[in-house]
Amino acid sequence: MKFYQMSVAERRSLLQQEYNVSSEEIFALSGVSGLSEEAADRMIENNIGLYSLPMGIARNFIINGKSVAIPMVIEESSVVAAASNGARIAQTGGGFTAEADTPYMIGQLQILGLTDLEQAEEKIRSEKNTLLSLAGESCPNLLKRGGGPVDIEVRKIQESQAGPMLILHLIMDVRDVMGANLIDTALEAIASEAEKITGGTVRLRILSNLADKRLARASCSVPINALSFKDYSGNEVLKRILEAAAFAEADPYRAVTHNKGIMNGIDAVLLATGNDWRAVEAGAHSWAARDGQIRPLSHWKKDPASGNLIGNIELPMAVGIVGGATKVHPGAAAAIKLIGAQSAQEFAGIVAAVGLAQNLAALKALSTEGIQRGHMSLHAKQMAAAAGAQGALADKIAAQMVRENRISASYAAELAAREKETSHA
Ligand code: MEV
Repeated sequence: MKFYQMSVAERRSLLQQEYNVSSEEIFALSGVSGLSEEAADRMIENNIGLYSLPMGIARNFIINGKSVAIPMVIEESSVVAAASNGARIAQTGGGFTAEADTPYMIGQLQILGLTDLEQAEEKIRSEKNTLLSLAGESCPNLLKRGGGPVDIEVRKIQESQAGPMLILHLIMDVRDVMGANLIDTALEAIASEAEKITGGTVRLRILSNLADKRLARASCSVPINALSFKDYSGNEVLKRILEAAAFAEADPYRAVTHNKGIMNGIDAVLLATGNDWRAVEAGAHSWAARDGQIRPLSHWKKDPASGNLIGNIELPMAVGIVGGATKVHPGAAAAIKLIGAQSAQEFAGIVAAVGLAQNLAALKALSTEGIQRGHMSLHAKQMAAAAGAQGALADKIAAQMVRENRISASYAAELAAREKETSHA
């Protein structure tokens, strides 16, 4: 039986057999032993309770030669199925290769009140080591783990609404955490020394979400045969995917939607693992617009040698596998354990691969039969469930609505009532 055909309980137990997760972790993934009210109350202010979303598992992911279960938390139907579908297609070419840069986070100090930016820049450069060791004192545990401040860069803004300003970038290797707290603490620790050195006034001390020293990349090479689908030959699908990709390269209106689809997959994994998805969203879209026009985060081409469809993705990925919500949220901690990444760097590559799989599935569907068919069959299931049908009966009603191309709440209710009558007859 296929994973999607199993009951929820069967899926959970298969997952436990297939991957290195305990029954407690499976329980946490199920939501039953997820975030406690006490923990939630410590997490945010004015807490009044919890909010649930579905947790699904995207299947078929082979990343750097390893099978990876991808936990996804999302409210939108079709996303988990599409990710699994994209991963299944990529699997025929060996899956995804993925990697990420050393987790260098950027923090910014805004220095105001300077008359000579060049001179201030020079002074910062000559006192770079003083500033770096001061920053290091703020994070002894990070230093023990092999991370810490690594560099200082200076950027000059000659003209702004607030006059000239010097921007000091502190670069820190944050190892396995997202790093916001580490970098903000270090910036605050060096602020008064930076004032002393430059004679200026430090105002903002905050990380940059344009984490472009922390890029994650994934790629796949899909044999043409793996692309054939219904009446479409592999060659035809490849051509159509390239046309769709060209549309996104050339048109910002399309590029935004193309990237939104990629973020469907990425955000879902980030939510499941308790990561700051807003930070990654902000970084992704600004990275996509770095040449002044929003461009697709992924690129597709035909490999002239093999004829395969080659996909690549690259985007900033400020993510962690320890700290933050993972400390207090058992579901997020279990999701990270299930993925099995040994470092934030490895995890970043995996997340990028999910984005690429999501995009492959979307482009294939959009350029052939359209996405409504898949969407509508899931939608039909939701309608059947809302009409009170459960399990196999819900599937039967949904299938009939799809077959007749008549998907509505009222028809679902009518079919459910008919079924009830028949079973009582
Ligand atoms: C829907 O949530 C995502 C898509 O619009 C992405 C895309 O158009 O590439 C299907």
